[in-house]
Amino acid sequence: MSTFLSTHTRTHSAGQLRAGDAGKQVVLTGWVQSRRDHGGCVFIDLRDRDGLTQLVFDPEFDKAAHAVAGDLRHEWCIGVTGEVRSRGEKLNDKLATGAIEVWVKGIEVFSKSETPPFQIEDNVDTNEALRLKYRYLDLRRPALQKKLMTRSAITRVTREYLGKNGFLEMETPFMVKYTPGGARNFLVPSRLNPGQFYALAESPQIFKQLLMVAGYERYFQITRCFRDEDLRLDRQPEFTQIDIEMSFVNEQILQNMMEGLIATLWREVLGIELTLPLRRMTYAEAMDKYGVDKPDLRLDLTLCEVTAPCKESGFRVFESVIQAGGIVKCLRVPGPADRLPRSLLDSLQDFAKQFNVKGIAWARVLEGGAWQGIKGFNDDARARVNQIAGATPGDTLLFFAEKAKVANTVAGATRLHIGDKLGLIRKGEWQFMWLTDPPLFEIEDGEVAAAHHPFTSPRVEDEHLLESDPGKVLARAYDLVLNGVELGGGSIRIHRSELQDRAFKALGISEEERRAKFGFLLDAFKYGPPPHGGIAFGLDRMAMLMAGAESLRDVIAFPKTQKGSDLMTECPTPVAKKQLDELWIQLRPDVPQK
Ligand code: AMO
Repeated sequence: MSTFLSTHTRTHSAGQLRAGDAGKQVVLTGWVQSRRDHGGCVFIDLRDRDGLTQLVFDPEFDKAAHAVAGDLRHEWCIGVTGEVRSRGEKLNDKLATGAIEVWVKGIEVFSKSETPPFQIEDNVDTNEALRLKYRYLDLRRPALQKKLMTRSAITRVTREYLGKNGFLEMETPFMVKYTPGGARNFLVPSRLNPGQFYALAESPQIFKQLLMVAGYERYFQITRCFRDEDLRLDRQPEFTQIDIEMSFVNEQILQNMMEGLIATLWREVLGIELTLPLRRMTYAEAMDKYGVDKPDLRLDLTLCEVTAPCKESGFRVFESVIQAGGIVKCLRVPGPADRLPRSLLDSLQDFAKQFNVKGIAWARVLEGGAWQGIKGFNDDARARVNQIAGATPGDTLLFFAEKAKVANTVAGATRLHIGDKLGLIRKGEWQFMWLTDPPLFEIEDGEVAAAHHPFTSPRVEDEHLLESDPGKVLARAYDLVLNGVELGGGSIRIHRSELQDRAFKALGISEEERRAKFGFLLDAFKYGPPPHGGIAFGLDRMAMLMAGAESLRDVIAFPKTQKGSDLMTECPTPVAKKQLDELWIQLRPDVPQK
């Protein structure tokens, strides 16, 4: 035990003292951010998670403390006692504590620090791998600390709100039964059951539904989920969900309750008052106007479909795509024409390549509606395209002629790319929307798969199409989208077994397969399941947006890289043969070496 701490208790944080505290005797603790030696006096900026305070070591004020101050270096951990004095005219208005300084009378060095591999300061450009290797040092940076504090505030406010509204916080297992389909699972071998594996839960989905069957009515959990996916900036292999389920609700009741949570979070964490209800948009409208199911509404550019006029336009390229079952989408970029310079139009061709499309056709709209760029369009078709797109002279029209899925993807991405390049995305806005009525199934090459999961309810008015036209069935599912990011998603679940049976049949899941995968859930549903529905928010994504971070890594204390590794602990690692033997596991001889 430090002698200092046995006789002193910290009185203030390093971000707390103000002009009105002048004259007080204080005890502060923290790290040496910087040291300046001005001949007589030594000045130290003391840092803790709350801020910085300037310490003054004057030999005439305290000789012993001044002597120690001469040795202090970056990141040494210290405790001091002293007197708060006003800085008078010399105040530093960039610092919250800039009106005062603390004249030190006593100091203890709790521990020294080696020279850190990078400066612990915001806006210092250090390579990310080094930061991740020394994550505990990177985490000392004020900007990162602030982001993680935002995250902590989100979980605190969430617990308070849901608690007040009668939600019970309950835990569900991480080690669960493996069921193929959905996200790829991480597997955990069972030593006690040789040759058998648990899966790490990709979400508590089935368990939260069972809690509804068990009569708990309102459940929530802030829980880790594990998915062995290809990683991107907004995906981590282990991430956290605010997971929620409610009984006796429809979409409206559930969404109202969630809007209350969102509004409370924005008010209490960010001091921002949102206007409720949040906007709603159907999946069909989102795909039509934005090409994606998570539109960024901070950008006003919209798409339109011009397949009909292009069909007999005389322009061979479009006509042949349409004959082969494709569509033509159009993005109108309002003029003046020089806003979208030729160099940017040319660079779009490269941009398009990542979507495996040949290119993006474009036309400048001239006076009278003529086009520069695309040639060979007949007058009638051109006039109709202009009319559908709302084109006026000076505008540029971009065309995406592909199979529907690709056309939407590349058009949606180009919309964002251009919005970004032209600075048209209004930063600082919070554009929420509920995406509603998505398709229940994804059908590709005749293969039917659940778009969400197999327990999602079809819309009542579409139930009759389950057998005859499954592609047309829309789901009682919804996503909450914020600024082009899917914050959360959920659905009203099927609770009648005959409907569940029909959904399984449509998915082509046989009787045996159902029993093998979900037997316990189907059994449970024989005992009076209540109507229920739920949602899960991605806490990391929410924290990323609320904290103004660029990547999920900035709001996760110990994140993984794109390759799923932790550079600090150097994981994953090989394990000894003895450990594998205990698990009855043998590695293939051709396992790639790192
Ligand atoms: P879903 O799979 O849509 O739904 O996940 C819910 C939310 O979790 C976040 N999310 C992720 N965040 C970071 N990294 C990832 N790899 C990742 N994957 C998903 C997203 C997403 O919106 N059980 C259902 C919910 C329900 O129906 O109630 C589910 O898991 O923000």
